[in-house]
Amino acid sequence: MKLTRLFFAILSFAVSNLAFSVEPIVIKFSHVVAPNTPKGKAAQKFKELAETYTAGRVKVELYPNSQLYKDREEMEALQLGAVQMLAPSLSKFGPLGVREFEAFDLPYIFPNKETLYRVMDGEIGKKLFAKLETKNIVGLAYWDNGFKQMSANKPLRKVDDFKGLKMRIQSSKVLDAQMRALGASPQVMAFSEVYTALQQGVVDGTENPVSNFYTQKMHEVQKHLTISDHGYLGYAVITNKKFWEGLPKDIRGELEHAMKEATVYERDIAQKENDESLAKVRAAGTTEVYVLPLKERQAWYKVLLPVHKEFEDVIGKDLIYGIYTVAAQVEKEKAGKK
Ligand code: LMR
Repeated sequence: MKLTRLFFAILSFAVSNLAFSVEPIVIKFSHVVAPNTPKGKAAQKFKELAETYTAGRVKVELYPNSQLYKDREEMEALQLGAVQMLAPSLSKFGPLGVREFEAFDLPYIFPNKETLYRVMDGEIGKKLFAKLETKNIVGLAYWDNGFKQMSANKPLRKVDDFKGLKMRIQSSKVLDAQMRALGASPQVMAFSEVYTALQQGVVDGTENPVSNFYTQKMHEVQKHLTISDHGYLGYAVITNKKFWEGLPKDIRGELEHAMKEATVYERDIAQKENDESLAKVRAAGTTEVYVLPLKERQAWYKVLLPVHKEFEDVIGKDLIYGIYTVAAQVEKEKAGKK
Protein backbone atom coordinates (compact mmCIF):
# COMPACT_ATOMS: atom_id res chain seq x y z
CA MET A 1 0.00 0.00 0.00
CA LYS A 2 2.80 2.40 0.97
CA LEU A 3 4.58 1.72 -2.34
CA THR A 4 1.43 2.59 -4.33
CA ARG A 5 1.00 5.87 -2.45
CA LEU A 6 4.68 6.68 -3.04
CA PHE A 7 4.33 5.88 -6.76
CA PHE A 8 1.34 8.22 -7.20
CA ALA A 9 3.07 10.96 -5.16
CA ILE A 10 6.06 10.83 -7.52
CA LEU A 11 3.75 10.72 -10.58
CA SER A 12 1.70 13.75 -9.51
CA PHE A 13 4.90 15.70 -8.74
CA ALA A 14 6.29 14.86 -12.18
CA VAL A 15 3.04 15.82 -13.95
CA SER A 16 2.74 19.12 -12.07
CA ASN A 17 6.33 19.98 -13.02
CA LEU A 18 5.68 18.94 -16.59
CA ALA A 19 2.69 21.34 -16.67
CA PHE A 20 4.94 24.18 -15.49
CA SER A 21 7.83 23.22 -17.79
CA VAL A 22 5.74 23.47 -21.06
CA GLU A 23 6.38 27.18 -21.75
CA PRO A 24 4.37 28.73 -24.63
CA ILE A 25 6.17 29.25 -27.94
CA VAL A 26 6.71 33.02 -28.20
CA ILE A 27 6.27 34.85 -31.50
CA LYS A 28 7.66 38.38 -31.37
CA PHE A 29 5.75 40.29 -34.06
CA SER A 30 7.42 43.64 -34.75
CA HIS A 31 6.14 46.37 -37.09
CA VAL A 32 6.52 50.09 -37.71
CA VAL A 33 2.96 51.46 -37.86
CA ALA A 34 0.41 52.51 -35.25
CA PRO A 35 -1.93 49.86 -33.77
CA ASN A 36 -5.00 51.63 -35.27
CA THR A 37 -4.04 50.93 -38.86
CA PRO A 38 -4.94 48.04 -41.22
CA LYS A 39 -1.62 46.29 -40.45
CA GLY A 40 -1.77 47.09 -36.74
CA LYS A 41 -5.31 45.76 -36.36
CA ALA A 42 -4.55 42.66 -38.44
CA ALA A 43 -1.52 41.88 -36.27
CA GLN A 44 -3.80 42.10 -33.21
CA LYS A 45 -6.36 39.82 -34.91
CA PHE A 46 -3.60 37.30 -35.75
CA LYS A 47 -2.45 37.36 -32.11
CA GLU A 48 -5.98 36.62 -30.84
CA LEU A 49 -6.61 33.83 -33.35
CA ALA A 50 -3.16 32.24 -32.99
CA GLU A 51 -3.40 32.10 -29.17
CA THR A 52 -6.95 30.71 -29.37
CA TYR A 53 -6.32 28.10 -32.06
CA THR A 54 -3.18 26.79 -30.33
CA ALA A 55 -4.95 26.79 -26.94
CA GLY A 56 -2.27 29.02 -25.51
CA ARG A 57 0.66 26.92 -26.71
CA VAL A 58 1.70 29.99 -28.73
CA LYS A 59 1.99 33.51 -27.31
CA VAL A 60 2.21 36.42 -29.78
CA GLU A 61 3.95 39.56 -28.48
CA LEU A 62 3.13 42.63 -30.61
CA TYR A 63 5.65 45.47 -30.92
CA PRO A 64 4.01 48.25 -33.03
CA ASN A 65 5.33 51.71 -34.00
CA SER A 66 9.00 50.67 -34.39
CA GLN A 67 9.11 49.99 -30.61
CA LEU A 68 11.47 47.04 -31.05
CA TYR A 69 13.10 47.62 -34.46
CA LYS A 70 13.00 50.41 -37.04
CA ASP A 71 12.82 49.91 -40.81
CA ARG A 72 16.45 49.16 -41.46
CA GLU A 73 16.93 46.84 -38.47
CA GLU A 74 13.80 44.71 -38.52
CA MET A 75 14.66 42.53 -41.53
CA GLU A 76 18.08 41.65 -40.09
CA ALA A 77 16.51 40.93 -36.69
CA LEU A 78 14.14 38.47 -38.37
CA GLN A 79 16.92 36.71 -40.25
CA LEU A 80 18.90 36.38 -37.02
CA GLY A 81 15.84 35.04 -35.18
CA ALA A 82 15.68 37.99 -32.73
CA VAL A 83 12.04 38.39 -33.84
CA GLN A 84 9.86 35.73 -35.43
CA MET A 85 7.39 37.73 -37.53
CA LEU A 86 7.26 41.00 -39.50
CA ALA A 87 4.96 42.59 -42.05
CA PRO A 88 7.23 45.01 -43.91
CA SER A 89 6.05 47.13 -46.82
CA LEU A 90 6.62 45.45 -50.18
CA SER A 91 8.84 48.48 -50.94
CA LYS A 92 11.43 47.31 -48.40
CA PHE A 93 12.69 44.06 -49.88
CA GLY A 94 15.18 45.65 -52.26
CA PRO A 95 17.96 45.95 -49.65
CA LEU A 96 17.44 42.22 -48.97
CA GLY A 97 18.41 41.61 -52.59
CA VAL A 98 14.92 40.73 -53.81
CA ARG A 99 14.32 43.72 -56.08
CA GLU A 100 11.39 42.03 -57.87
CA PHE A 101 9.05 43.06 -55.01
CA GLU A 102 9.47 46.62 -56.28
CA ALA A 103 6.99 45.71 -59.03
CA PHE A 104 4.38 46.74 -56.45
CA ASP A 105 5.98 50.21 -56.39
CA LEU A 106 5.60 50.89 -60.12
CA PRO A 107 3.46 54.01 -60.49
CA TYR A 108 -0.14 53.45 -61.63
CA ILE A 109 0.46 49.73 -62.30
CA PHE A 110 -2.64 48.54 -60.41
CA PRO A 111 -5.88 49.97 -61.84
CA ASN A 112 -7.90 48.47 -58.97
CA LYS A 113 -7.72 46.23 -55.88
CA GLU A 114 -9.09 43.22 -57.76
CA THR A 115 -6.00 43.19 -59.98
CA LEU A 116 -3.78 43.71 -56.95
CA TYR A 117 -5.25 40.80 -54.97
CA ARG A 118 -5.05 38.45 -57.97
CA VAL A 119 -1.37 39.34 -58.37
CA MET A 120 -0.71 38.85 -54.64
CA ASP A 121 -2.62 35.56 -54.36
CA GLY A 122 -1.69 34.14 -57.79
CA GLU A 123 1.46 32.87 -59.50
CA ILE A 124 3.30 36.20 -59.25
CA GLY A 125 2.83 36.40 -55.48
CA LYS A 126 3.93 32.79 -55.03
CA LYS A 127 7.06 33.28 -57.16
CA LEU A 128 8.02 36.36 -55.16
CA PHE A 129 7.67 34.47 -51.87
CA ALA A 130 9.80 31.63 -53.29
CA LYS A 131 12.64 34.17 -53.72
CA LEU A 132 12.67 34.76 -49.95
CA GLU A 133 13.48 31.15 -49.07
CA THR A 134 17.23 31.58 -49.70
CA LYS A 135 17.21 34.50 -47.25
CA ASN A 136 16.01 32.31 -44.33
CA ILE A 137 12.55 33.90 -44.73
CA VAL A 138 9.11 32.36 -45.38
CA GLY A 139 6.31 34.49 -46.84
CA LEU A 140 3.05 33.77 -45.04
CA ALA A 141 0.55 36.26 -46.48
CA TYR A 142 0.09 39.52 -48.37
CA TRP A 143 -1.71 42.27 -46.47
CA ASP A 144 -3.21 45.39 -47.96
CA ASN A 145 -3.02 49.03 -46.99
CA GLY A 146 -3.95 51.15 -49.96
CA PHE A 147 -3.13 53.49 -52.77
CA LYS A 148 -0.66 56.23 -51.89
CA GLN A 149 -1.25 59.96 -51.83
CA MET A 150 1.27 62.80 -52.00
CA SER A 151 1.77 65.46 -49.35
CA ALA A 152 3.88 68.60 -48.91
CA ASN A 153 3.63 72.14 -47.55
CA LYS A 154 2.69 73.49 -50.97
CA PRO A 155 -0.06 72.38 -53.36
CA LEU A 156 0.90 69.33 -55.49
CA ARG A 157 -1.27 69.50 -58.60
CA LYS A 158 0.86 69.87 -61.70
CA VAL A 159 4.05 67.84 -62.28
CA ASP A 160 6.07 71.07 -62.06
CA ASP A 161 4.90 71.52 -58.46
CA PHE A 162 7.36 68.77 -57.43
CA LYS A 163 10.39 70.57 -58.86
CA GLY A 164 13.24 70.57 -56.32
CA LEU A 165 11.13 69.19 -53.45
CA LYS A 166 12.89 66.81 -51.05
CA MET A 167 10.44 63.90 -50.86
CA ARG A 168 10.79 61.07 -48.31
CA ILE A 169 10.53 57.57 -49.75
CA GLN A 170 10.90 54.00 -48.57
CA SER A 171 14.04 52.06 -49.50
CA SER A 172 13.00 51.30 -53.08
CA LYS A 173 14.86 52.14 -56.30
CA VAL A 174 11.54 52.34 -58.14
CA LEU A 175 10.29 55.01 -55.72
CA ASP A 176 13.60 56.85 -56.17
CA ALA A 177 13.02 56.86 -59.93
CA GLN A 178 9.36 57.84 -59.44
CA MET A 179 10.27 60.98 -57.49
CA ARG A 180 13.04 61.92 -59.93
CA ALA A 181 10.61 61.52 -62.85
CA LEU A 182 8.45 64.15 -61.12
CA GLY A 183 11.46 66.48 -60.70
CA ALA A 184 11.74 65.92 -56.94
CA SER A 185 14.73 64.80 -54.91
CA PRO A 186 14.03 61.45 -53.16
CA GLN A 187 15.31 60.84 -49.59
CA VAL A 188 15.16 57.30 -48.14
CA MET A 189 14.22 57.48 -44.46
CA ALA A 190 12.86 55.14 -41.80
CA PHE A 191 9.12 55.48 -41.28
CA SER A 192 9.62 56.32 -37.58
CA GLU A 193 11.69 59.40 -38.51
CA VAL A 194 9.29 60.93 -41.06
CA TYR A 195 7.14 63.08 -38.76
CA THR A 196 10.16 64.82 -37.20
CA ALA A 197 11.86 65.23 -40.58
CA LEU A 198 8.74 66.92 -41.98
CA GLN A 199 8.35 69.06 -38.86
CA GLN A 200 11.98 70.24 -39.08
CA GLY A 201 11.96 70.66 -42.86
CA VAL A 202 14.60 67.97 -43.39
CA VAL A 203 12.25 66.79 -46.11
CA ASP A 204 9.46 68.80 -47.76
CA GLY A 205 6.95 66.05 -48.39
CA THR A 206 6.19 62.36 -48.60
CA GLU A 207 3.79 59.73 -49.91
CA ASN A 208 1.70 57.14 -48.09
CA PRO A 209 -1.83 55.80 -47.85
CA VAL A 210 -3.93 58.16 -45.73
CA SER A 211 -4.16 55.62 -42.86
CA ASN A 212 -0.42 56.11 -42.28
CA PHE A 213 -0.55 59.85 -43.02
CA TYR A 214 -3.19 60.36 -40.33
CA THR A 215 -2.05 57.88 -37.65
CA GLN A 216 1.48 59.32 -37.79
CA LYS A 217 -0.07 62.81 -37.39
CA MET A 218 1.47 64.03 -40.65
CA HIS A 219 -1.59 66.28 -41.10
CA GLU A 220 -0.04 68.38 -38.30
CA VAL A 221 3.07 69.09 -40.40
CA GLN A 222 1.80 68.91 -43.99
CA LYS A 223 -0.45 71.69 -45.32
CA HIS A 224 -1.38 69.93 -48.57
CA LEU A 225 -2.48 66.37 -49.40
CA THR A 226 -3.19 65.36 -53.01
CA ILE A 227 -5.37 62.29 -53.55
CA SER A 228 -3.49 60.89 -56.55
CA ASP A 229 -3.59 57.08 -56.05
CA HIS A 230 -0.29 57.22 -58.00
CA GLY A 231 1.18 54.13 -56.33
CA TYR A 232 0.38 51.30 -53.96
CA LEU A 233 1.52 50.26 -50.49
CA GLY A 234 1.00 46.73 -49.20
CA TYR A 235 2.79 44.20 -47.03
CA ALA A 236 4.32 40.75 -46.95
CA VAL A 237 3.83 38.95 -43.63
CA ILE A 238 7.05 37.02 -43.17
CA THR A 239 8.64 34.70 -40.62
CA ASN A 240 12.07 33.29 -39.89
CA LYS A 241 12.41 30.06 -41.94
CA LYS A 242 14.36 28.11 -39.30
CA PHE A 243 11.83 29.07 -36.61
CA TRP A 244 8.83 28.25 -38.82
CA GLU A 245 10.10 24.88 -39.98
CA GLY A 246 11.09 24.01 -36.41
CA LEU A 247 7.53 24.36 -35.14
CA PRO A 248 5.47 21.23 -34.35
CA LYS A 249 3.37 20.41 -37.45
CA ASP A 250 0.04 20.83 -35.65
CA ILE A 251 1.06 24.25 -34.27
CA ARG A 252 2.18 25.39 -37.73
CA GLY A 253 -1.18 24.29 -39.14
CA GLU A 254 -3.08 26.30 -36.54
CA LEU A 255 -0.93 29.37 -37.17
CA GLU A 256 -1.57 29.08 -40.93
CA HIS A 257 -5.31 28.90 -40.13
CA ALA A 258 -5.03 32.02 -37.93
CA MET A 259 -3.01 33.85 -40.63
CA LYS A 260 -5.57 33.00 -43.32
CA GLU A 261 -8.42 34.42 -41.24
CA ALA A 262 -6.41 37.47 -40.18
CA THR A 263 -5.69 38.15 -43.87
CA VAL A 264 -9.38 38.06 -44.83
CA TYR A 265 -10.09 40.44 -41.93
CA GLU A 266 -7.20 42.73 -42.94
CA ARG A 267 -8.37 43.10 -46.51
CA ASP A 268 -11.91 43.75 -45.32
CA ILE A 269 -10.86 46.70 -43.18
CA ALA A 270 -8.04 48.25 -45.26
CA GLN A 271 -10.12 50.52 -47.50
CA LYS A 272 -12.46 51.47 -44.64
CA GLU A 273 -9.52 52.44 -42.43
CA ASN A 274 -8.16 54.67 -45.19
CA ASP A 275 -11.57 56.25 -45.87
CA GLU A 276 -12.02 56.96 -42.15
CA SER A 277 -8.53 58.45 -41.90
CA LEU A 278 -9.26 60.75 -44.85
CA ALA A 279 -12.46 61.92 -43.17
CA LYS A 280 -10.44 62.65 -39.99
CA VAL A 281 -7.83 64.61 -41.97
CA ARG A 282 -10.57 66.70 -43.55
CA ALA A 283 -12.22 67.21 -40.13
CA ALA A 284 -8.89 68.30 -38.58
CA GLY A 285 -8.85 71.25 -41.00
CA THR A 286 -5.04 71.49 -40.88
CA THR A 287 -4.39 70.09 -44.36
CA GLU A 288 -5.95 71.12 -47.65
CA VAL A 289 -7.12 67.93 -49.42
CA TYR A 290 -7.05 68.08 -53.24
CA VAL A 291 -8.44 65.25 -55.33
CA LEU A 292 -6.36 65.10 -58.54
CA PRO A 293 -8.76 65.51 -61.49
CA LEU A 294 -8.43 63.21 -64.52
CA LYS A 295 -6.62 65.78 -66.72
CA GLU A 296 -3.88 66.38 -64.14
CA ARG A 297 -3.75 62.64 -63.30
CA GLN A 298 -3.06 61.96 -66.98
CA ALA A 299 -0.16 64.45 -66.88
CA TRP A 300 1.34 62.62 -63.86
CA TYR A 301 0.77 59.28 -65.58
CA LYS A 302 2.63 60.51 -68.70
CA VAL A 303 5.84 61.33 -66.79
CA LEU A 304 5.60 58.30 -64.49
CA LEU A 305 4.85 55.50 -66.96
CA PRO A 306 8.45 55.41 -68.36
CA VAL A 307 9.56 54.18 -64.91
CA HIS A 308 8.02 50.79 -65.82
CA LYS A 309 10.36 50.37 -68.81
CA GLU A 310 13.33 51.68 -66.83
CA PHE A 311 12.96 48.72 -64.45
CA GLU A 312 12.17 45.91 -66.88
CA ASP A 313 15.71 44.49 -66.50
CA VAL A 314 15.74 44.76 -62.70
CA ILE A 315 12.22 43.54 -61.92
CA GLY A 316 11.80 41.36 -65.00
CA LYS A 317 9.79 42.18 -68.13
CA ASP A 318 7.76 38.94 -67.69
CA LEU A 319 6.76 39.91 -64.15
CA ILE A 320 5.69 43.42 -65.20
CA TYR A 321 3.80 42.14 -68.26
CA GLY A 322 2.27 39.47 -66.06
CA ILE A 323 0.68 42.23 -63.99
CA TYR A 324 -0.56 43.97 -67.14
CA THR A 325 -2.13 40.66 -68.24
CA VAL A 326 -3.96 40.24 -64.92
CA ALA A 327 -5.19 43.84 -65.17
CA ALA A 328 -6.47 43.23 -68.73
CA GLN A 329 -8.26 40.04 -67.61
CA VAL A 330 -9.99 41.88 -64.76
CA GLU A 331 -10.99 44.67 -67.17
CA LYS A 332 -12.40 42.11 -69.62
CA GLU A 333 -14.45 40.43 -66.88
CA LYS A 334 -15.78 43.80 -65.71
CA ALA A 335 -16.78 44.69 -69.31
CA GLY A 336 -18.41 41.29 -69.68
CA LYS A 337 -20.55 41.97 -66.62
CA LYS A 338 -21.87 45.34 -67.95
C1 LMR B 1 6.52 53.47 -44.89
O1 LMR B 1 7.67 53.25 -44.50
O2 LMR B 1 6.10 54.54 -45.35
C2 LMR B 1 5.53 52.32 -44.76
O3 LMR B 1 6.15 51.16 -45.22
C3 LMR B 1 5.12 52.10 -43.33
C4 LMR B 1 4.22 50.88 -43.26
O4 LMR B 1 4.71 49.82 -42.83
O5 LMR B 1 3.05 51.01 -43.66
